[in-house]
Parts: sequence; C-alpha cells; structure tokens
Amino acid sequence: MSDDIFRGRWVLITGASSGFGEDFARQLAARGAHLILTARSEAKLRALGEELSAKHGVLHRVLPRDIGASGGAIALADEVLALDVAVDHVVNNAGFGVGGPFVELGAARAAEMLRLNCEALTVLTAKLLPPMRERGRGGFLQVASVAGFQPTPYMSVYGASKAYVVSFTVGLAEELRGTGVRMSALCPGPVATGFQAVAGIEIAPSQRASVLSSEETVRGGIQAYVDNKTVYVPGVVNTLGGLAAKFLPRALVARAAGQMMKNRGRG
Ligand SMILES: NC(=O)c1ccc[n+]([C@@H]2O[C@H](COP(=O)([O-])OP(=O)(O)OC[C@H]3O[C@@H](n4cnc5c(N)ncnc54)[C@H](OP(=O)(O)O)[C@@H]3O)[C@@H](O)[C@H]2O)c1
Repeated sequence: MSDDIFRGRWVLITGASSGFGEDFARQLAARGAHLILTARSEAKLRALGEELSAKHGVLHRVLPRDIGASGGAIALADEVLALDVAVDHVVNNAGFGVGGPFVELGAARAAEMLRLNCEALTVLTAKLLPPMRERGRGGFLQVASVAGFQPTPYMSVYGASKAYVVSFTVGLAEELRGTGVRMSALCPGPVATGFQAVAGIEIAPSQRASVLSSEETVRGGIQAYVDNKTVYVPGVVNTLGGLAAKFLPRALVARAAGQMMKNRGRG
C-alpha cells in the first residue's frame, strides 16, 4: 500500500508556505505523515501546521529560515538533525525564477537564485542523506522543472539551475540504486502559484489550456516518488515538450523558447 511509506514518518518540506510546498504538506498530512515545514513566512507555516495537525492528527514542527541566504541551508539542516525525530522524506521544493534579460538580472539576484535552487537543495541532501542510507529507507523528492531540459532564454539562470537539479538527481538515483533510498525529480511545466508573481512573468495564453493545477502536479509527483520514478514530468503537453527538447537541435529549441519567453514578461 503506497501510503505506508508516509504514515507515521517525518517529512521535511522546504518552501511549504505556498504553491506546491503547501500542497505537498496538505497531501502528505492526509497520508499520515508528520511534517517539518520550512520557508521564510513563519505565520503561514504555523497556520498550515496547526490546520493539518487538527485535521489529520499528525504532528508538525515549524522551522522558519531563509535558505537562499548564505549559510541558511546548513543552519537549517543542523536544526533538523538536532530534532528528536528521524526524517524519512525530504521534499526539496523551495525555489524561484526571474524572467527578463540576463543583463538586467544583476549578480546578487543570480547568486541568490543559485544558492536557493541548487546549493540549498544539495546541502540539505548531503546532510540528510547519510541517516537515510544507514536506515535503508526514505528519500528525496527534488522539485526541478521542464525548464531543466532545455535552454531558457530570458530565464537562463533559472533553466540552468533546474538542469542542475535534474542531473544531480539522476546521478544520485544511480548511486543509490538498491539501497532502499529513493531519489526522484519532479519536472512540472507552468502552474499557477506564487512563482509567476516572484518571476514577473505570466503563463503564455497558448499554454493556458494545458496547464495543470498545483494540486494535480503534486499528486502526480508524490505517486512518481512512491513508484520510484527518477524523473517525472506531469501532463501530456509537458512530456511532449520535454521529448522535443531532447531530440531537436539545441539552437532551434533555444530560438523557440526565446520567442515564447520574450512574450511572457510583463516588462
Ligand atoms: N509554478 C510553476 O510554474 C513551476 C514550474 C516548475 C517548477 N516550479 C518549481 O516549484 C518549486 C515551488 O515553487 P512554486 O511554484 O510553488 O512557487 P511559490 O508559490 O512562489 O513557492 C515558493 C516557495 O519557496 C519559498 N522560498 C522562496 N525563497 C525562499 C528562501 N530564500 N528561503 C526559504 N524559502 C524560500 C517560499 O516561501 P517564503 O516566501 O515564505 O520564503 C514558498 O514557500 C520551485 O522550486 C519552482 O522553481 C514551479
């Protein structure tokens, strides 16, 4: 029974204050998981934890932390390891993108994006994997993106950061084969969450008909993790897009993506 891997186990969810992270918390609590919720917005995390504990009878802890800040992820990992609970599952979900020309992004924002999307995810994996290896169970659900399969002009740092997440996850999945520890990358296409406001982009009108909800995306991601799929792309349109990026010439894919991204910015 798929629920058995979550019931009564502790799950750390980063970026749990909105979007996919909030849906991961809702769906995993409904499956009986105890929650460690982290993000910067403490009040939202506390309200969510209290609501889900009352509704599903699960335990929760709230660890507000900025893991896009230098040293933030190491501090969070140490705090998690100091808790009196064994963390069996980690949903490395916190992340952001910024739309627009790279020349306007600025070095500080680019570095912050890489710290959150790549460094924090890697540090949390490095710190929390060893106890899972010893127990021979648990795993990481790494939130990547279809943007990780192709160059993404006007969002180049974001796409490159997610390519890192995909490559890192597939590499580790191979290293961990047969150990009992899962390693799964969830690669969604565009979904309406807080992401678009932070990125300053809109979902292109041509994509709106095929856009999945956050709830559906997360449900599929959890099932793929349970099924031990290393890379999961929710939705037929996103899957076909991923295949096209794999087989078409890179320059052509970059040109098409550039045209689409240019029209998604709000200015
Ligand atoms: N929505 C999409 O179209 C889409 C598609 C593919 C992949 N993704 C990926 O999905 C993941 C979740 O994004 P979302 O769509 O759910 O967006 P979202 O609603 O903006 O959620 C992002 C979460 O990350 C947290 N976060 C941001 N900066 C942080 C920091 N410095 N330290 C700690 N937590 C931080 C935010 O909480 P606080 O602000 O409270 O810190 C929030 O909980 C991201 O990795 C994103 O790249 C999104």
